[in-house]
Amino acid sequence: MAESHTHSPINTQLGSKPLSNKRVLLGISAGIAAYKTPDLVRKLTELGAEVEVILTRNADQFVAPLALQAVSGRSVHNYAMTAESESGMGHIDLARWADVVLIAPATANTIARLCQGNADELLTTVCVATQAPLAVAPAMNQQMWQNAATQANMETLAKRGTFILGPDSGEQACGEVGPGRMLQPVDIAQRLAAHFQTGSLAGKNVMITAGPTWEAIDPVRGITNHSSGLMGYALAQAASEAGAKVTLVSGPTNLPFPERVTPVKVVSALEMHEAVLSNIEEQDVFIGVAAVADYRPVDSAEQKIKKNADTMTINMVKNPDILADVAAHDKRPLCVGFAAETNNVVDYARGKLERKKLDMIAANHVGNSETGFGTADNAITLITQDSVTELPKQNKYALARTLINEIATYLAKQS
Ligand code: C5P
Repeated sequence: MAESHTHSPINTQLGSKPLSNKRVLLGISAGIAAYKTPDLVRKLTELGAEVEVILTRNADQFVAPLALQAVSGRSVHNYAMTAESESGMGHIDLARWADVVLIAPATANTIARLCQGNADELLTTVCVATQAPLAVAPAMNQQMWQNAATQANMETLAKRGTFILGPDSGEQACGEVGPGRMLQPVDIAQRLAAHFQTGSLAGKNVMITAGPTWEAIDPVRGITNHSSGLMGYALAQAASEAGAKVTLVSGPTNLPFPERVTPVKVVSALEMHEAVLSNIEEQDVFIGVAAVADYRPVDSAEQKIKKNADTMTINMVKNPDILADVAAHDKRPLCVGFAAETNNVVDYARGKLERKKLDMIAANHVGNSETGFGTADNAITLITQDSVTELPKQNKYALARTLINEIATYLAKQS
């Protein structure tokens, strides 16, 4: 508690969380600078990163695994590849998990092993197995740094595209003065962030609704529509890739939730309304993509309705308009709607922009077989108070990325 008063988060210096949604695998090798790594983990997490730690052999002589566990919030992996460690998050899982592998401190020995492509303990094995980019922050005695073998190894790493952080120059732990000191944790974290930053929505909270809703008539029957949810799911993935923390409130679909997105499953429009409104205050952006049923049966029968009568009437009542309620909220986020129309697409969409008091509306032409509900492609006209932009027909994932960029640009202009 005391710390929160004295601690100045470094993300305020960068203006956002440039490592949001980034998974940093931190390899710590056995050099004296390892004692600074709990602070490094702290700085990385303050910039939004998730951090897993692997220690090399003997690194635990310089830093306590428990301290690293406390700051990363995850248990720490040691050098050994045992049946037990492999049964948890094994070397291939770690290699796949990482968006970037950062080795800090990187000793002369670890650097040499990386050049050789050795796979003699967990960290080096993960480095061989991963497709993630590698960053190293060398730390060693100045003679060891200037040694021809070390310099040649560094050149090899640089040629392979390794991102090299430092070293710094100055007084060393051994009493000598010269190049070879590890950069300060804050500098490593900030340089890593500047190099790998996640994109246009870094640090923003985005909520998206997707899919159809299901309005029950009885326990086995209901009223729904043809929305596949694909466009909303694609937007959730694109927003997450752009660095946002995404909450995806979804009606019933057959789609898997994208990784790194907070899933909220709902069935009816009322449930979707409740799930959205109870969490809206934290959001920077709300995108209503769900095809929410306009009406629901007044009563849903408790038992299956029998087909005794020749006709039946279902009394319906209007559902709340989720998007309009979000836009009317005191602490409204940026509001983006979707308008699926079969004719007069732009005129009707503009009417919804005004009526629901939205910032933007994405109008799409449904009712043909090439775009809209259930199709892989989509084309959109994006309308704001003072602009109309055509986003031509393309795959929904590509379109989602374009749309997220447009939203991020609009958001940046507002603040
Ligand atoms: O009025 P209409 O249903 O055509 O508006 C579509 C837009 O409004 C979509 O963004 C949709 O997600 C949202 N909407 C909503 N709640 C409703 C109806 C529509 O959020 N009850």
